[in-house]
Amino acid sequence: MKRIVWGTLNRFCAVMGILLERGMLRLVMIVAATLALYPTQNLAGLAGISSDNQSIQSRKKPQAQKRRLDYSRFSHDTHVLKQKLACDSCHKFPTANWKEVRKGDAAFADVAEFPEHQSCLNCHRQQFFARERPAPAICSNCHVKVTPRNTTRFLFDSLGDISDTSRPRRELISEFAVSFPHDKHADVVGAWLPARNPRSGFVSVSWQEKAGQQESAEPKSCPVCHQTYQPQGKSDDEYVTKPPEKLGDNFWLKKGTFKTIPNSHSVCFTCHNTDVGIEPAPSSCNACHKLAASHNPGKVDFDPNLFRTIGITDKTISATWSRRFSSGTFRHEGGEHPNINCVKCHNLPTMNTTEMKSLIVPVSSCGGAEGCHITATTDDGGILNYEIDQKKKEPAFVCTKCHISLGKQAVPASHVSAIPKPK
Ligand code: HEC
Ligand code: HEC
Ligand code: HEC
Ligand code: HEC
Ligand code: HEC
Ligand code: HEC
Ligand code: HEC
Ligand code: HEC
Repeated sequence: MKRIVWGTLNRFCAVMGILLERGMLRLVMIVAATLALYPTQNLAGLAGISSDNQSIQSRKKPQAQKRRLDYSRFSHDTHVLKQKLACDSCHKFPTANWKEVRKGDAAFADVAEFPEHQSCLNCHRQQFFARERPAPAICSNCHVKVTPRNTTRFLFDSLGDISDTSRPRRELISEFAVSFPHDKHADVVGAWLPARNPRSGFVSVSWQEKAGQQESAEPKSCPVCHQTYQPQGKSDDEYVTKPPEKLGDNFWLKKGTFKTIPNSHSVCFTCHNTDVGIEPAPSSCNACHKLAASHNPGKVDFDPNLFRTIGITDKTISATWSRRFSSGTFRHEGGEHPNINCVKCHNLPTMNTTEMKSLIVPVSSCGGAEGCHITATTDDGGILNYEIDQKKKEPAFVCTKCHISLGKQAVPASHVSAIPKPK
């Protein structure tokens, strides 16, 4: 009896292997569900025997070591750094679905789908056939859940500009930082985009300067990629969520605080595409995506409790706010800020987007030509002067004008030296 079951399973597994590779998995899932009723050997192990020597190799490894790995959490560290796999061994460019995800003129050759099974199977036959319910853990890296009825995949992360209600988005903490050398693009983006962009509709809209805005206020290229997020505009509604009645001087998040950052390839690939031919090519993923430990800024000016109190559910806000490390309260739309040239606060030539420390906005930029928040004496009204005075008097004083959480700490040297010396 045992030998018959073994033989049958063995044949089933050989068939399943072929089907998996052909993507005909709906059937496999049903077969697998049926097979799972047999209280016999581990399906994955059997699948291994029935196929090539790759899996024999993996079977030699002690099972205990295997179990500690979480196959629901793919890491590029393992595959790119340790296994030395090239990006294109998994990510195809363009993916077959690029004409479907964006329609008509908006469509452009893009990587718009997860890697295919084929790119994993040579090494992970065992995990693909693991007897785990409701589906092998490894499937969840790309699929929402895998049942015979539901084989939906998440929307691939590069499609941040697309809303497809049939495919949920996954929560993503990227392992990569994006390299965008601003200094090398400063002139080129302004000069190229309106003329050469085949999808001119998209860019010319965001290209236009706001009516009444001063010529010098913004380098023209910035809004192509960075817009004020949820601006208050002319509305009376100042806050992102409704504040409590007795807010007093307490902080509550206002609209127009953040600038967006690109969430797709739409802008980059207008120039970095195979027709225009500017390097890096769109298929050179690693020219723009850098696996970087320094992506973590360390000290951030953010408080998850306050975030919850304010009741924010918006993912763009949570991603941006939790990455603020200079000033958590700074509002781009606030006061005079929109009339100041971006580059007065953001020093583009020293900025390296993969090196978070280089993105810190120096406190000295809070003291503009007229002093603004930093003045020679406290009587002149500088808020930084006032807060430093308070902190001297009472070390428990918390600086709240510009900070969410950093204001509890001691006054950094940068703040003291930002105060102009009396002549
Ligand atoms: C062994 C296959 C494999 C290789 C090699 C690979 N990837 Fe991926 N990549 C995946 C899978 C699977 C996902 C989706 C699962 C995930 O992100 O956890 C993914 C997701 C991503 C994401 C979105 C998730 C994130 O962390 O931002 C980016 C960006 C990405 N890959 C870029 C790259 C780049 C750049 C390279 C080359 C340096 C590369 N990949 C090499 C398989 C691979
Ligand atoms: C060249 C062989 C190779 C290829 C191709 C490969 N992997 Fe791996 N993968 C490994 C190795 C080696 C490990 C380390 C653990 C082990 O021995 O299984 C691993 C580990 C994993 C893990 C555990 C978490 C981690 O990343 O450390 C997941 C999940 C995973 N792989 C998913 C995939 C997926 C999905 C694909 C296809 C898109 C893929 N792998 C392609 C060799 C490979
Ligand atoms: C690295 C990402 C990835 C992993 C891991 C993965 N799949 Fe897929 N799967 C895909 C992609 C991409 C397609 C679409 C392929 C195509 O259309 O050619 C697909 C297609 C399928 C299909 C065909 C149905 C459909 O919607 O097109 C089934 C069934 C399926 N996968 C089941 C599974 C199962 C079961 C597992 C785990 C054992 C798994 N997949 C693991 C990426 C993945
Ligand atoms: C073609 C698109 C593009 C243009 C044009 C552009 N940027 Fe950027 N910018 C990016 C990308 C991409 C990043 C990195 C985003 C990330 O880390 O994911 C970035 C990052 C930044 C950051 C750091 C954000 C942070 O996380 O703290 C600042 C500040 C910035 N840009 C300012 C500017 C200014 C000022 C201009 C105009 C002179 C400008 N950018 C023009 C694409 C662009
Ligand atoms: C008065 C100074 C100032 C001006 C002017 C300014 N910014 Fe900022 N910007 C900041 C500060 C402060 C931060 C927060 C940095 C941090 O804490 O990490 C920031 C953050 C950003 C970010 C990251 C996302 C965010 O909101 O945290 C981007 C992108 C950005 N600025 C783009 C721009 C662009 C584009 C302009 C011009 C239209 C501009 N900034 C004008 C001070 C300024
Ligand atoms: C208007 C056209 C244009 C757009 C849009 C554009 N680039 Fe570029 N990019 C260029 C040109 C031109 C160069 C070559 C610049 C040079 O070598 O001086 C370049 C070079 C680069 C380089 C290589 C720089 C180096 O050090 O060699 C990277 C990385 C890059 N771009 C990333 C991006 C990313 C990321 C985006 C989207 C956020 C983007 N580019 C959007 C035109 C563009
Ligand atoms: C010219 C630069 C460039 C190239 C080449 C490029 N990307 Fe991107 N990619 C970006 C930018 C910019 C974003 C926007 C997200 C951001 O700023 O963090 C992005 C976003 C993504 C995302 C969304 C998740 C994330 O990490 O933000 C994925 C996934 C992704 N790219 C995968 C790829 C893959 C796979 C390739 C190679 C086939 C590739 N990209 C080639 C610039 C590039
Ligand atoms: C007008 C706005 C402003 C005021 C007021 C302000 N800060 Fe800052 N603070 C900044 C900016 C911008 C940075 C990031 C760049 C820097 O340090 O120059 C910063 C950074 C910091 C840091 C991190 C610096 C580091 O090197 O670790 C601490 C801690 C800090 N502030 C504490 C305080 C304290 C305490 C007060 C009150 C006495 C205060 N700040 C008042 C704008 C302000």
